[in-house]
Amino acid sequence: MKLSVIGCGYLGAVHASAMAELGHEVVGIDVDAAKIMQLAAGKPSFFEPGLPEILASAGASGRLRFSTDMADVADATVHFVAVGTPQMQGSHAADMSYVDAAVAGLLPYLKPGDLVVGKSTVPVGTAARLAQLIADSGTGATLAWNPEFLREGFAVKDTIEPDRLVYGVADESAAAVLDEVYAAALAAGTPRISTDYATAELVKVAANAFLATKISFINAMAEIAEVTGADVSQLADAIGHDARIGRRFLNAGVGFGGGCLPKDIRAFTARAEELGRGESVAFLKEVDAINLRRRQRAVDLAVEALGGSVYNKRIAVLGVTFKPNSDDVRDSPALDIAVQLKGLGAGVISTDPQGIENARLRHPQLDYTDSIDEALNGAELVVLATEWTHFRELDPAHVASLAAGRTIIDGRNALDAAAWRAAGWTYRGMGRP
Ligand SMILES: NC(=O)c1ccc[n+]([C@@H]2O[C@H](COP(=O)([O-])OP(=O)(O)OC[C@H]3O[C@@H](n4cnc5c(N)ncnc54)[C@H](O)[C@@H]3O)[C@@H](O)[C@H]2O)c1
Repeated sequence: MKLSVIGCGYLGAVHASAMAELGHEVVGIDVDAAKIMQLAAGKPSFFEPGLPEILASAGASGRLRFSTDMADVADATVHFVAVGTPQMQGSHAADMSYVDAAVAGLLPYLKPGDLVVGKSTVPVGTAARLAQLIADSGTGATLAWNPEFLREGFAVKDTIEPDRLVYGVADESAAAVLDEVYAAALAAGTPRISTDYATAELVKVAANAFLATKISFINAMAEIAEVTGADVSQLADAIGHDARIGRRFLNAGVGFGGGCLPKDIRAFTARAEELGRGESVAFLKEVDAINLRRRQRAVDLAVEALGGSVYNKRIAVLGVTFKPNSDDVRDSPALDIAVQLKGLGAGVISTDPQGIENARLRHPQLDYTDSIDEALNGAELVVLATEWTHFRELDPAHVASLAAGRTIIDGRNALDAAAWRAAGWTYRGMGRP
C-alpha cells in the first residue's frame, strides 16, 4: 500500500521505517528539515535499537522516502498523523496545534477514498472533531484513530509485532483498510479491537494512566517504607507474585518521566475537567505529585549524604535519559535531579551512554562527560538516576578506586545493595533500609 507518515519523531520515524520494512511504500514528512535530511541519508535522528537496520534496509528497497514537502503525500492513500502533542505552556492540557496543523496541511492533498489515521495521543473528542473537519472539506477522505503503544527502546519490535491493534473508526470500511496495512501482524494473531473514536482515544490515555498509577503506587509504598524501615523491593516482589497484581511496573525509584506518561496524565485530567468529570481522574494529580516527590527525595538524600549541603561538592549523576535504551530526556527524572543539585550549588557531572546531546540542548548549564570513569573521578557522591546496564554492572571496587566519597544513592533500586555495602559503600536506595 502507499502510505504517508506525517511527523517523523520517536513514533513517526519508526512507524514509517517499519511499514516500509513490511512491504508498504512509505513517504515520511516532517517540518524539521535537518531531521528529514538525516533520515533521508539513512541516519536515525535519535537513538532507538534496531532503527538503523530497518531504516537502511527499507531505504535500500526504494520503498521509503522522506520529505519536508507535504505535496509528496499525494500518491499515498493512507496518511498516518504522528506529530507531537506536548503539554501546553502554562496549562496541563495537550497542545493540539501540531495535530491541527498537520491535518490542515494534509487537506489539499486528500482524495476520495483516502484514510487519515491519527496515531498521536490526543484528548478524547479530537477524532470526532477532525472527522467533521475532513468531512466538511469535501475531499471524500475519512478518518480513523489508531493509538500507538510502542515503548521507546523496543519501538521497532513493538511496531512490527504490536501486542494489540486498536482502531477507532466510524465504519467498517476504515477498519478494512487498516487490516490491509497491518496484514502481517494480524496474520501473526495480534488481537484487534475495532471500536468508536472515543473508546480508541481513551484506550491510550487509560493505559498510560494505569501504568503511571502503578508506578506511583509502589513509590507511595516506598515513602511508607522509608518511615517504617520496610523494604519496598521485597514488598514489590511479594505482592507481585499475586497474578492479579503482577510484578511489572512495580519498581520503586525516582519515578516516571519521558515524552508520554507525565504529559498524558496531565492532559487526561485537563480533558476530564473540561468534560465536567474532573473528579473521576482527580487521583491522577496525586499520582503526578507522588512521582515528582520521588525526584525531591533523591535530592534530599544527596543533601543528607553530604552532611546537610551539596554546595561545592562534586556529584556524579549516572544517567540523563528518562529510561535506559533511549536518548529521550523529555521530563527525565535523572536530568531533573541533576538540575536541582546544580541549583543547590553542587558541582554536578552527568554521564549517559546516549542522552548527552539532547540533555545539553535543554540544560547547557550542566557538565557532561561520555566517560563513566571521568564522571566518577573525585566524586564525593554517586547518584544512579537511570538504570542503564552500563551503570548496573559497575564494579563497586572499581568505582571506589575513582570516587572520593563512599556513598551511592541508587535512584532506581537497580544495584545489589549487599555487594556495594560489602565493598565499603554506604548504599541508599529508594524505600529500602
Ligand atoms: N514516543 C513514544 O514512545 C510514543 C508512544 C506512543 C505514542 N506517542 C505519541 O505520539 C505522538 C508523537 O510523539 P513523539 O514522541 O514521536 O514526538 P516527537 O516530538 O519525537 O515527534 C513529533 C514530530 O512531529 C513533527 N511535526 C510537528 N508538526 C508537524 C507538522 N505540522 N507536519 C509535519 N511534522 C510535524 C516534529 O518536527 C517532530 O519531528 C505524541 O502524541 C505522543 O504522545 C509517542
